[in-house]
Amino acid sequence: MSQDAYRLIGPRGNEMELPVHRGTTGPDVIDVARLYREKGVFTYDPGFVSTASCKSDITFIDGEEGVLMYRGYPVEQLAAKSSFIEVCHLLLHGSLPTQAELDDFENTIRRHTMLNEGMLNFFKGFRYDAHPMAMLSAVVGSMSAYYHDEMDSSNPDHRDIFAHRILAKLPTIAAAAYKLNIGQPFIYPRNDLNYSENFLHMMFAVPAEPYEIDPVASEALDLLFILHADHEQNCSTSTVRMAASSQANPYSAIAGGISALWGPAHGGANEAVLRMLNEIGDASQIGKYVDKAKDKNDPFRLMGFGHRVYKNFDPRATIIREMCHKVLDQLDREDTPLFDLARELEQVALHDDYFKERNLYPNVDFYSGIIYKALGIPTSMFTVMFAMGRSVGWVAHWREMITDPQIKIARPRQLYIGEPKRDYVDIAKR
Ligand code: ACO
Repeated sequence: MSQDAYRLIGPRGNEMELPVHRGTTGPDVIDVARLYREKGVFTYDPGFVSTASCKSDITFIDGEEGVLMYRGYPVEQLAAKSSFIEVCHLLLHGSLPTQAELDDFENTIRRHTMLNEGMLNFFKGFRYDAHPMAMLSAVVGSMSAYYHDEMDSSNPDHRDIFAHRILAKLPTIAAAAYKLNIGQPFIYPRNDLNYSENFLHMMFAVPAEPYEIDPVASEALDLLFILHADHEQNCSTSTVRMAASSQANPYSAIAGGISALWGPAHGGANEAVLRMLNEIGDASQIGKYVDKAKDKNDPFRLMGFGHRVYKNFDPRATIIREMCHKVLDQLDREDTPLFDLARELEQVALHDDYFKERNLYPNVDFYSGIIYKALGIPTSMFTVMFAMGRSVGWVAHWREMITDPQIKIARPRQLYIGEPKRDYVDIAKR
């Protein structure tokens, strides 16, 4: 890493040179770590819009150019040529696997898909209508109870087993949550199926009759998992890093990431898009809703539009849009009017000055929800699908952080704007 310097000029000519770190690609980063120790001031950056919280060699995003790369490989190439399991290997280990490495990795994941039977009892404690994200977070959190003694973060074997368990068991937990919601028996995983096929089997098979897996559905799922696999220091990944920076059990840190993902400003947006499209109802109402989104006195926003990082277009949205067509054409389901409404809304927003001036483009979640719906996945499961894809990113970032020799507990500072010191007043005198 080569270094330059920025000069900080404070009051009364109080100057300081701040080192600059240069990454492989992307903007330079000014190192302010010595600022408080030497000058007694903090930096202020709510929402971390200009702050890098760590060094990472996993994922690169260029929001202006619409670039997303995992370990240097453009997501478009991975989407066209790779599989989710291969991308998992890439993200976790840093390189594309040989055929033998891939076979070994895939086999390991297949063999970790079953849950401890005791874990299924957790589901009995939930109400039939519990949100699957709440169940996913709770049951993944419970893995910290099942695997506490076997989880020494400094042990590379333990780190590997943790990664395998998270990747393998999340689909089983997710499908179990869905089965609880609809009152059907849990379906056990099948080791002869690939990752996406197995998930479809656990979601939709019933003991009473055979279930045929649609190859278009498993292809679409695999693509969506690839596109959601990582996105550098997003809210849920930063949550995982922050929680685990205290050396907390990583299963509970992943549960924290799942909770962060649930919010509508993050992974919950795909669910919110579908609710919004249903609320809009038909094309004649689009103008009214676009006006609501532009009205500063109205909290309504167009869900699936805008992104903290992508300010021109979201490369994932471009890929997913094509898949959306393919799924709708081949599955021949009755959601085409919804998709047409989405396309029309997209066109109206893309040509509206408000959205153009603010660079508000459709993001990945705008299309993903429509595909999920076409595959028969209920709206409440959409963010769960996102979590399954993102789980590998969370694990890769956890591994990177926990093996960094310079690891520090994450502990931001604040600008205090409360009362200055005052004396306690006895209750009778208040
Ligand atoms: N609809 C209407 N106006 C919007 C929207 C939207 N979807 N998104 C942003 N704006 C407006 C804001 O009101 C603001 O306007 P102003 O400058 O006149 O005040 C301007 O655009 C900038 O918006 P910010 O909220 O400052 O941008 P930020 O980067 O903080 O927010 C976010 C990004 C949270 C994604 C936002 O665009 C949003 O709420 N979008 C809808 C939810 C969504 O789709 N989230 C999914 C994110 S992608 C993912 O997690 C995979």
